[in-house]
Amino acid sequence: MIYSKITGTGSYLPEKVLTNKDLEKLVDTSDKWIQERTGIKERHVAAEGETTCDLALHASRRAIEMSGISNADIDMVILATTTADKIFPGTACLLQKKLDVHGCPAFDVQAVCTGFVYALSIADKFIRAGETQCALVVGSETLSRILDWNDRSTCVLFGDGAGAVVLEAAAEPGIMSTHLHADGSYEHLLHVPHGISIGYEQLKAGEAYVYMEGNAVFKMAVNTLGQIVDEALEANRIGKSDIDWLVPHQANSRIIEATARKLKMSLERVVVTVAQHGNTSAASIPLALDVAVRDGRIKKGQTLMLEAFGSGFTWGSALLKF
Ligand code: COA
Repeated sequence: MIYSKITGTGSYLPEKVLTNKDLEKLVDTSDKWIQERTGIKERHVAAEGETTCDLALHASRRAIEMSGISNADIDMVILATTTADKIFPGTACLLQKKLDVHGCPAFDVQAVCTGFVYALSIADKFIRAGETQCALVVGSETLSRILDWNDRSTCVLFGDGAGAVVLEAAAEPGIMSTHLHADGSYEHLLHVPHGISIGYEQLKAGEAYVYMEGNAVFKMAVNTLGQIVDEALEANRIGKSDIDWLVPHQANSRIIEATARKLKMSLERVVVTVAQHGNTSAASIPLALDVAVRDGRIKKGQTLMLEAFGSGFTWGSALLKF
């Protein structure tokens, strides 16, 4: 049997930090409200001209360095993003070019906040099928570009950043399971109402910003994440206590705490970066993973549960031995 295994992680955050206090100057909000409702203290924002691919490149180089591979070993690039650099080509191709990698498949995955879990699942399938040996899997976002900075209900929630992993063929798992889901009938609760197929006019009119019915999203996220956890545990015939670390999508500390309660996990075993990163959509899980790997909390051989919920709605999990 061939399995896939993460052999390197990397992440990158833009230099500029926007605190809740900074946001108090932009919209009618308060540091207290944001922290109480979301757990967010600050977020990073890309500099002018700094793109999703630029962030992805930094994160990828760090993951490649940790894994010990050379760029030429990479035979697949998958990049999860909602904020592509260009309408085409895919940002994965732009990243491939910057890494001087040629010929292997490179494509973007658009599953919003669940994007990284989708991308990881796809790479795992290619590796298990024997078609890929060494995949670079990235989540990278410049969400700040699609926020209405006058809308206090959304602009306080999101941030920019990138995370990456190198996923290699291995004789033992590695990735134990992935479960992916979507239900497009919830599109209207969390979306950017306009895209390129509707035409440039709406984009120019400034209607291409994140819209969210926060309360409805919150309830769905909490219920769905509980089910995801059960699904992954049952599929692997393991118990809650077998999980060493929960590495959740970082949208809101209250959602993360609810999932931890469901798993009967103390928050000491949950990687929480939302206070410093905000919600970085597809980048949030690989960013959190890299933080906990580099600070020594996550160790080789431990069992991790990655889970996400996002616009679509999309949701999914990955259970893995690190
Ligand atoms: N600062 C101050 N007040 C704010 C505010 C802000 N930034 N944003 C909204 N409010 C106000 C609202 O206008 C409302 O005021 P009202 O009662 O006078 O009408 C009040 O706070 C409560 O709003 P509500 O939306 O019901 O708050 P909430 O407790 O649901 O918290 C979220 C809002 C967005 C933090 C919360 O719903 C949430 O986290 N949802 C999920 C978000 C998420 O995870 N999205 C991504 C999924 S990938």
